[in-house]
Amino acid sequence: MKTQEPFVDGIIAEPLHREPLDNELLDIDARVNGNSVTAKPIAPAVDDGDSYTAATGLTPATIAAQFQRVRANSIALCEPLELEDYGLQAMASTSPPKWHLAHTTWFFETFVLVPYIHNYQRWHPAFEHLFNSYYNGIGTPFSRPQRGLLSRPSVSEVMEYRRAIDERILTLLESSQTLGRNILETIELGLHHEQQHQELLLTDLKYSFHVNPLQPAYRASRRPAEVTQAEPEDPWVAFEGGVVEVGAEGQGFCFDNETPRHRQYLEPFCLAWRPVSNSDVLAFMADGGYQRPELWLADGWDLVQRERLTAPLYWQRSDNGWRHFTLAGQVPLVANQTACHLSYYEADAYARWAWARLPTEAEWEHAAKSQVVAGNFIDTGQCHPDVAVSSSPLAQLFGDVWEWTSSSYSPYPGYAPAAGAIGEYNGKFMCNQMVLRGGSCVSDRAHIRATYRNFFYPADRWQFSGLRLARSR
Ligand SMILES: [Fe+2]
Repeated sequence: MKTQEPFVDGIIAEPLHREPLDNELLDIDARVNGNSVTAKPIAPAVDDGDSYTAATGLTPATIAAQFQRVRANSIALCEPLELEDYGLQAMASTSPPKWHLAHTTWFFETFVLVPYIHNYQRWHPAFEHLFNSYYNGIGTPFSRPQRGLLSRPSVSEVMEYRRAIDERILTLLESSQTLGRNILETIELGLHHEQQHQELLLTDLKYSFHVNPLQPAYRASRRPAEVTQAEPEDPWVAFEGGVVEVGAEGQGFCFDNETPRHRQYLEPFCLAWRPVSNSDVLAFMADGGYQRPELWLADGWDLVQRERLTAPLYWQRSDNGWRHFTLAGQVPLVANQTACHLSYYEADAYARWAWARLPTEAEWEHAAKSQVVAGNFIDTGQCHPDVAVSSSPLAQLFGDVWEWTSSSYSPYPGYAPAAGAIGEYNGKFMCNQMVLRGGSCVSDRAHIRATYRNFFYPADRWQFSGLRLARSR
């Protein structure tokens, strides 16, 4: 069966049909490699670890169900797109939707099929290079700023690639209920990786749409009617501090950068009951916030000067007041909605102006660890932050906007990245970036937890990033 180089000779490879054979592992080995002569029991090329059911309850069946759900979500997110939208890349930091769809597939092929399937041969030999993001241990990645130039493979060819790899992963998962722990953990990692890219796909698309004078909408907003915000009498929530534990406990999935769990000492502190709103930012602007160097870090002030910043990203003054670009197109700014698309520099300057500061990531996590992960995530369909309401002591801790912390992204004490190329996932970025917490209105709810550490450069503001004030008691 032809499974290689489907585009070189113009013949699309036949899809893999599942046929009931006596030995499913033989079947995988033969079909995945297109080798019907030397079929033999599947033998992982690397140690696939112990059977993986005792600690977490995860089985091949549960992973397969997650796999189908997450992979289908990526396709569903693209339903509103026109064909021309799939190749958009408006700046070097963003990627086209088509590239996200291919790269997430590349991840499963590179880190599951290649190492664990005997003599596996890639779907297309060029894809190893084209859709490698930053894994130097795999090979030299294709130039990131030029991803938008990849008009080929076409969208339909990338969709074919997705279907082929999906079928192979599911065949692998269906082949045995005793797959090793390493395979299942790597597939689970690939699913969380794909959820990260689902969020990036939307944030990148928003940026690309924004530079188009037509200001196209991704889809109509399902934003509910405006809500009256009831400010509590005391806008601060107090915490005692002391020696606290931060980091993942080892129950359920986490990225390696959330480990190891360790102790930290916190002085008593307060967090604001809600993130900063648009009206708060307007007050900062009205008080000359973008014109006062004393409020800004030196690098931030340089950026303000260089790029002539006077407002958050996507904001535009009109004759009828401020408007901003959203995934539903350009709309009037709603004053009490939570503010987003602020850089770390803007968040830090705002906090200084407000006679407060940003929380450390340990403070944020300590406050969040007893709270249920609930809020405005991608499943609400709003794709924009809501108005914070006083439903709990800390409103919008999860969802709506990623909250900048004052913590630089660095390894926890005792942190060790995984061996091999997959160890490049997080560890090598632990320099010059800042930690954000809590997820956003375009995050998948199942992807977010109190210990999750997101990270971006201080100048970045195309993510759904905002801030919550903190102060020492
Ligand atoms: Fe990636």
